[in-house]
Amino acid sequence: MSKNYKIALLPGDGIGPEIMQVGVAVLRAIAPQFEISFSFETALAGGAAIDETGHPLPAETLSLCQSSDAVLLAAVGGNKWDTLPSELRPEQALLGLRGGLGLFANLRPAKILPQLIDASSLKREIVEGVDILVVRELTGGIYFGKPKGIFTDEQGVRRGLNTMVYSEMEVDRIGRVAFEAARKRKGVLCSVDKANVLEVSQLWRDRITKMSQEYPDVTLSHMYVDNAAMQLLRWPKQFDTIVTGNLFGDILSDAAAMLTGSIGMLPSASLGEPGKPGLFEPVHGSAPDIAGRDLANPLAQVLSAAMMLRYGLNEGAAADRIEAAVMQVLDAGKRTGDIMAPGCEQLGCKAMGEALLAALA
Ligand code: IPM
Ligand code: MG
Repeated sequence: MSKNYKIALLPGDGIGPEIMQVGVAVLRAIAPQFEISFSFETALAGGAAIDETGHPLPAETLSLCQSSDAVLLAAVGGNKWDTLPSELRPEQALLGLRGGLGLFANLRPAKILPQLIDASSLKREIVEGVDILVVRELTGGIYFGKPKGIFTDEQGVRRGLNTMVYSEMEVDRIGRVAFEAARKRKGVLCSVDKANVLEVSQLWRDRITKMSQEYPDVTLSHMYVDNAAMQLLRWPKQFDTIVTGNLFGDILSDAAAMLTGSIGMLPSASLGEPGKPGLFEPVHGSAPDIAGRDLANPLAQVLSAAMMLRYGLNEGAAADRIEAAVMQVLDAGKRTGDIMAPGCEQLGCKAMGEALLAALA
């Protein structure tokens, strides 16, 4: 009997709807090849939801996601909503989904594709062969810590306050995900913190070090975040799997992404407890400057759909098929503007989608 998966689609803003169309077309195309089927339901999130309902993450959207097998998101945000108070900005949709679905583990692979080495801003010998997985804690740390807010004291002085806090439980569960991921890769894990200054990092380091006793096959090292930022640019090949907290992971995953030349190529997975729906989305944003002009690169969205199959639905073979199709179109010299190179053929978003469908046929 063929398996049916209920997928919540959140196209969001900017280039979101265009790239989502390609992602869905690819999923539809591979489904019969693997005897699976999808029931897609689209919901509002981000700026689109603000315009329609006044809120970036309407309750119906969250409950649809909670009752789905997986959530595929494109991108949210845009200048139009940037002046709203922070609790009403499109980004709140992401934070609300992360919190509401308990998505504590964010996997952000940054793998340089041989076809795109020259798109990197770094020298070929530095980036060739780079294959890094950033495991970012996603529902704790300074993003969610309390107390938080802007307060006025008795002297009338305003202070902005956020709290960077991790419990042992939070460190342990992200540590577990990272050690397991490293074990399936090269068995090398670097934990990034700021333990020379922050107590929260000292606890982090302590727990990760303890856990390493359970993983004698994984080589663990620790690095301060400032050094990690530098090492990512200096010699990125020293890294295999990186585990870090929410804020450091936000910053380092962008840096790691850029090693590959275009953030337009990178997918991500956000996972919670086993059996609960995960959320899959490109690392890039909504790119309002090119929205609606058929210029966007849909490949990160397509690769996010592949991650959904692999990590969210346990359909690894179907994920392999999609990833192979992406490699095939790149091998054929097909490129969107962001990854264009001399001698290649430049395509728009739609045409790139059609090339993928042809590769999958
Ligand atoms: C990301 C983004 C988000 C974050 C923003 C948009 C809330 O930068 O997913 O990395 O900071 O986590
Ligand atoms: Mg970010």
